Amino acid sequence: MSNYHIKHLEEYWQVYRKSVRNPENFWEEIAEEHFLWRKKWDNVLSWDFTKPEVKWFEGATLNITENCLDRHLATRANKTAILFEPNDPKENAQHITYKELHQRVATMANVLREQGATKGDRVCIYLPMIPELAIAVLACARIGAVHSVVFAGFSATALATRINDCDCKIVICSDGSFRGSKTINLKEIVDEALESCPGVKTNLVVKRTGGEVTMKEGRDTWLQPLLDNADTICKATIMDAEDPLFILYTSGSTGKPKGMVHTTGGYMVYTAYSFKNVFQYREDDVYWCTADIGWITGHSYIVYGPLCNGATTVMFEGVPSYPDFSRFWQIVEKHKVTQFYTAPTAIRALAKENLDFVEKHDLSSIKVLGTVGEPINEEAWHWYNDHVGKKNSPIVDTWWQTETGGIMISPIPYSTPTIPTFATLPLPGIQPALMDENGEEMKGNQVEGRLCIKFPWPSIARTIYGNHDRYRDTYFSAFKNMYFTGDGARRDAVGYYRITGRVDDVIIVSGHNLGTAPIEDAINEHPAVAESAIVGFPHDIKGNALYGYITLKETGEDRNQDNLRKEINQLITDRIGPIAKLDKIQFTEGLPKTRSGKIMRRILRKIASKDTGNLGDTSTLLNPEVVQNILDNALG
Ligand code: WTA
Repeated sequence: MSNYHIKHLEEYWQVYRKSVRNPENFWEEIAEEHFLWRKKWDNVLSWDFTKPEVKWFEGATLNITENCLDRHLATRANKTAILFEPNDPKENAQHITYKELHQRVATMANVLREQGATKGDRVCIYLPMIPELAIAVLACARIGAVHSVVFAGFSATALATRINDCDCKIVICSDGSFRGSKTINLKEIVDEALESCPGVKTNLVVKRTGGEVTMKEGRDTWLQPLLDNADTICKATIMDAEDPLFILYTSGSTGKPKGMVHTTGGYMVYTAYSFKNVFQYREDDVYWCTADIGWITGHSYIVYGPLCNGATTVMFEGVPSYPDFSRFWQIVEKHKVTQFYTAPTAIRALAKENLDFVEKHDLSSIKVLGTVGEPINEEAWHWYNDHVGKKNSPIVDTWWQTETGGIMISPIPYSTPTIPTFATLPLPGIQPALMDENGEEMKGNQVEGRLCIKFPWPSIARTIYGNHDRYRDTYFSAFKNMYFTGDGARRDAVGYYRITGRVDDVIIVSGHNLGTAPIEDAINEHPAVAESAIVGFPHDIKGNALYGYITLKETGEDRNQDNLRKEINQLITDRIGPIAKLDKIQFTEGLPKTRSGKIMRRILRKIASKDTGNLGDTSTLLNPEVVQNILDNALG
C-alpha cells in the first residue's frame, strides 16, 4: 500500500525517507493504486541529466481526461467539478458537475477534431478565466492535441511569438473579457496577433462579453454553433505516458520565451499526489486557487491536480478589488471555501486596505491557506495568518516553477510546523541540493547556495519546444548532473528551506516572471534609445518593480523626458504586456560596463534599491565615471 495521504510529521519523514531510498518503487506504487491506465508501464524511470533525458512510466498508455473525468462518473457524477464565480457578483455562479463537464469536454473535443486537430497538433488557447478555458484545455487533452495556453493579459506581439514558436494551426479565443470594471476586447488583440501568424487556419471564438468584433471570413468561427451541432460523446485518444500534454511559455533571462514541454503520465501522477497532500484535500472540500489558468499554477492546481482527485475547484473570473477589496473574502464565505491558494502580491495588496473588508466575512470554512509565485515577506505572512487564517489555518508556502510542473518544497499542513518565509521541507520524491560557487554540493545545515534538484521527479519538464540544446544549457549545464532552478536558497538549522530569490536575470514582478532581455529589446526599439538596462527594486505590493536605466542617442535635439517615458512604457505594453511596464525610468549618460563590455547590473541594482553604501570596486570598470552621474540622478 502506498502512503498516498500524509497525516502527521512522523509519517512525512517515514514517507520521505522511503521515497528517496527507492524513488522508482515509491512512484510506481502511487501510480498503480490511484490512477486509471489503459496499459501499465514497462519501465518506471530512465534518466540521464547530461543529455538531458527523463522518462517516467515508459510503455504505459492512458488519457489524462479519463482520470480527471470519466472515472469519477460512477461515484461523483452530480458533484460540482468546476465552480465558476463570474467577475460580476450579481451574475450567478455556475456549478458544473462532473457529468456536465465530461459532456462539455467531449463536445468541445469533437469540435476540435472536426476542425482537423489530431494527436500531437498544437492548439493555442487565449481565453479569460471562464469555464470554456478549462474545457478547452481538457478537450485538447481528450484528443491528444497539445495545448499552449497563453495568459490573456499578454499583448498581440507576445501572443504571436508564442503561436508561431510552436506552430499552432488552431486558436481558441473569446470576443472579450471582464476584469473588474473593465471590458477588454481580446478579439482585437488576437486579430492583430494573427496578422503575423500565417500558420493559423482556424480561430474559434467564444462569446463572453457580447462586444462588437469583426470575424475574418474563412478563419474566424463562433464556437457555440459548432458545439450545438457536435456529438456529446468523444472517445479519448490513447496516449503514451511520455507524449506531450502541453506547452507553457515562461520567460528566460535572455532570448525568446521558453516553451516548456510537459508530458502526460508523470505530470498527472505528480500533480494529483502533491495536490492531495499539500492541500490536505478531502472529499467534501471546496478548493480555490486564485491563479489564472494561463500560468502553471492554474494548469496544475486549478485543472489537473484537483480534477484528478475528483475535487470541486473554484474558477474566478474577476479581480480581488472588484466591486471592492472584500471580493475574495465574500467568495470564500459564499462558497464555504476550505483551501485558499493565492500569491503574496495579492496578499500585500489586500493587507493595505481596511481590515473591515476581511473581518466582515465569515472565513471559518478555511482549513488551509497557500501562497506561491515569489518569496512571501514576513509582514504579509503574518497578516494572512492573523486575519485570514485567524491563527488557525496552516499556511503552505509552496515553492516550485513552470519547469517543475508541481509543488516541490512546501509544508504539509497539520504535519510540518510552519515558520514565516520558509517553504520548509521537500515533498516526497524531491531531492534538493545547495551548491556553492565552485560547483560543490554544500552538505549539512545552515548553508546557503544555489538551489538544484539532484534526482528526477515525475512532473519535470522534458524539454523546451524546438530547442533541446537551450533546455540543456539553461537547466543542466551550471552544475554537473543536477537540475538548476535559477533560485538561491538557505537551509536552516533544522533543514528547512528558505528561498532567497532568483540568482539570474529573471525578475519576479507581482508573481510574474519577467526576463530583463526581452524588456530591454522592446525599449531599444524606440528610435531615441541607444541602450538600456533593467533591474528590479523592492516594492511594497509587487514584491519587485522594474527600474530602467536608459541612455538616449545623441541627436542634439532636446526631447521631453516625460513623453519619452510614456512612449517607452507603451512600447513595452505593446511588445510584452502591461505587467512588464517600468515603474521608474532614469535617463543616463552611459551604463557601467566591465572591460569585456558587459553591463554591471549589480551596481545598477544597488542604486535602484537605494543600497548605495557599498557599491563594491568600480575602478575596474571600463567607464567608472558614469557611476557617479547615475548616483547623482537616481530616482527616489
Ligand atoms: C519563484 C510559479 C519563493 C521562484 C509556480 C521560482 C517562489 C519562480 C515561490 C517560478 C515561493 C515560486 N517562494 N519563490 N513559494 N514560488 N517562486 O515559473 O523564483 O511562474 O523560480 O512558477 O517563482 O515562477 P513560475
